[in-house]
Amino acid sequence: MTTIFINIKELLQTRPREITKVSGLQMKVLPSIKNAYLLIKDDEIIDFGEMNNTCFGIADEVVDCTGKIVLPAWVDSHTHIVYAGNREQEFVDRINGLSYEEIASRGGGILNSAEKLQNTSEEDLYKQSKKRLEEIMQLGTGAVEIKSGYGLTVEAEIKMLRVIRRLKDEYKLPIKATFLGAHAVPKEFKDNKDGYMDQIINQMLPAVSDEGLADYIDIFCEKGYFSIEDTERILEAGKKYGLRAKIHVNQFNIIGGVTTGVKYNALSVDHLEVISDDDIEVLKNSETMPVALPSCSYFLGIPYTPARKIIDAGLPLALATDFNPGSTPSGNMNFVVSTACIKMKMTPEEAINAATINAAYAMDVTETHGSITIGKKANLIVTKEIPSFGFLPYAFGTNNIDSVFINGQKI
Ligand code: NIG
Ligand code: FE
Repeated sequence: MTTIFINIKELLQTRPREITKVSGLQMKVLPSIKNAYLLIKDDEIIDFGEMNNTCFGIADEVVDCTGKIVLPAWVDSHTHIVYAGNREQEFVDRINGLSYEEIASRGGGILNSAEKLQNTSEEDLYKQSKKRLEEIMQLGTGAVEIKSGYGLTVEAEIKMLRVIRRLKDEYKLPIKATFLGAHAVPKEFKDNKDGYMDQIINQMLPAVSDEGLADYIDIFCEKGYFSIEDTERILEAGKKYGLRAKIHVNQFNIIGGVTTGVKYNALSVDHLEVISDDDIEVLKNSETMPVALPSCSYFLGIPYTPARKIIDAGLPLALATDFNPGSTPSGNMNFVVSTACIKMKMTPEEAINAATINAAYAMDVTETHGSITIGKKANLIVTKEIPSFGFLPYAFGTNNIDSVFINGQKI
């Protein structure tokens, strides 16, 4: 089955296969073809170019994109969409003056979500999570990473990861699973963090590995959560099971997580709301992608990741949602792209590069996703009729998506 998209006002992010990420000044360039066509066969892009170079007769189906822009679907490389219930009450508590840290120290926060998840059946957790997945797909997300970390017991972590595996089996977009046992220290281990670390390393990791449930390993490296020493232990243990790191660092404090991440050749270091000059130097010449999560900054009222400092130093940057019940109850990549422009002073070109090609790097799907490239999967966004691609972040809060295609199928 072949489908041809014709009269595309502008086809964005047309790249040769060798480009797997863009850094520094390259991020200002978004290669594109005006008045274009795109030909797909089954689930794959097989040709594209200028309209005058094609003949329509060849395809089984024709999609007229007059006035519309086509781009690769968003890649969301950092989410926690498998969770139970919500934390709406903590949202109200914060409005009334409590801080995120205060709520956590009173036993709310991650521990609140863990309790809810432990008391939710695997079936119910799957049902709640699939709704969120379907919602983000409608919003243009065509590849997603999902973390565990709201279980905090062997049983509940495995339950979360099995739900992620079921989502992988049931849906056509690529899903990567990250084991985040070290997300918070559970109540039972309040005065015995090392005991919990031992449980992660000696019980959870072997069980996760036995069932092949994770692609990556993560830890919340932050004051009051897990130290650099803990991070080294977890990443070392993950390495033994072949799990590469994708870690939470520098959300509130700089404690050295970036250096540790790079030392372990992490695929990505995520959050970076605070970042030092030394961190920037360490990231240069590394293979680690820095990832910013602006919706989290928006929701918590914490600083935005200094994108200009990072990009102007010549580094790449990716954008993701962080969709989770506590710090970011939103999986809307369109809002992320807009907020990156408005609050982090990224240009539309930079933000779109960060949410597609660089995001694909941050979850290792560049072989198949993140750009309009022959042989890659036909995971696409077709916009409504809009004046130009800059209109997407400009018209924040407006849904400018006409349709989304996953593996060549309109969803
Ligand atoms: O990435 N920072 C750590 N973990 C999540 C939020 C966890 C929560 O509040 O439930 C994050 O923001
Ligand atoms: Fe997160």
